[in-house]
Amino acid sequence: MRTGIYPGSFDPVTNGHLDIIKRASKLFDKLILGVLHNPYKNPIFEVEERIAILKEVTKDLDNIEVLTFEGLLVNFAKEQNCTTIVRGLRAITDFEEEIKMAQINRIIGGDIDTIFLTTSVEYSYLSSSTVKEVALFHGDVSPFVPPIVEQKIKEKYGYK
Ligand code: PNS
Repeated sequence: MRTGIYPGSFDPVTNGHLDIIKRASKLFDKLILGVLHNPYKNPIFEVEERIAILKEVTKDLDNIEVLTFEGLLVNFAKEQNCTTIVRGLRAITDFEEEIKMAQINRIIGGDIDTIFLTTSVEYSYLSSSTVKEVALFHGDVSPFVPPIVEQKIKEKYGYK
């Protein structure tokens, strides 16, 4: 059984994440979505909300498990018997950070590999932080996130 892990903050999950999730789910028997619980960050959505949203938006995919983790990704990946970490790459600017993380994870994680999926071009500009910025100023986030996230964002930021 081949298990992969797609880790992230998913605060919030965007259409770009969803694109990677759908494509990565075809590469593994099981794909774990590892939601980082970082006590030092101040998220918009609590971990429980992010998990509920991810479960909702992936309910049509039958090999997805949504879990949260704290601490080192590779430790969690090993606990879950994952062979491979999946990350999305939008542009060369992502590559710099991602290659560092992949190399460190390879050194401390033993034989866990990282693979990169190139983000579909229509999402190449998209990030959770830009969605949050649009939301902060009550802009239309519907082109960027699934409808359930749009609804939750509007509730959080208090606009219609
Ligand atoms: O897509 P994101 O939100 O930037 O995700 C980053 C994430 C969660 C993959 C990364 O921060 C992570 O793995 N954090 C856990 C701590 C860790 O293992 N860091 C890698 C060693 S440098």
